[in-house]
Amino acid sequence: MERLDKILSEAGVCSRKDCARLARRGLITVNGLEVRDPADKVDENAVIEVDGEPVARRREVVCIMNKSAGFVTSTEDDRSRTVMELLPDEMLRQKVVPAGRLDKDTEGLLVFTNNGDLLHRLISPKSEIPKTYYVEHEGRITDEAVRKAEQGVVLKDGTTCKSARIECLGEGKSTITITEGMYHQVKRMFAALGCHVTYLRRIQIGKLPLGDLEPSKVRELNQEEITSLFNTL
Ligand code: URA
Repeated sequence: MERLDKILSEAGVCSRKDCARLARRGLITVNGLEVRDPADKVDENAVIEVDGEPVARRREVVCIMNKSAGFVTSTEDDRSRTVMELLPDEMLRQKVVPAGRLDKDTEGLLVFTNNGDLLHRLISPKSEIPKTYYVEHEGRITDEAVRKAEQGVVLKDGTTCKSARIECLGEGKSTITITEGMYHQVKRMFAALGCHVTYLRRIQIGKLPLGDLEPSKVRELNQEEITSLFNTL
């Protein structure tokens, strides 16, 4: 049970003050009955209407997207399509935002949430959450390159990366797991190892895999998956 004015302000319908005014004017109903007191406690399944319009209640949402290439990870962009265009209306209503970034030409796992705490933890460098990428590249990943990645690749600008794990999957195909999120990090690490990246897809964050989610599709995580995600942070 939550206060009516809290629910309406969280849903972005009106401020708490305005809720009191609307209630006094008899414009708010809960399950069809007028409610005059904004402090009234309302059940989570109750149907609330303001001036005859049903209210979409704010709830905590975590969802994942299989980002396609060509979309920028931003809430707005003047020149390119953004990942927000791939979100279903319900997720937009719930005001989710991307937790982290993928380059415009990178595909794969992107988390969205409206939970500020989770968002902060997912993007904080302190979390050091492992992120795994499938990489297609020119050149060969040698044992020496795998060792260098473990010890910390030195990028062309002199920055030393944290230890990373590269697994060679065959000619021109590898996976890499990193615990940082520097700009173009995987591409720059592979460049420093003499291998130009031609394709990049994020396949896992912590214990959360992309799985078989279709390109450009979005799915909500269930409570178990959300708890597991929190536990890896
Ligand atoms: N590293 C990159 O180079 N690009 C991405 O999109 C993500 C990680």
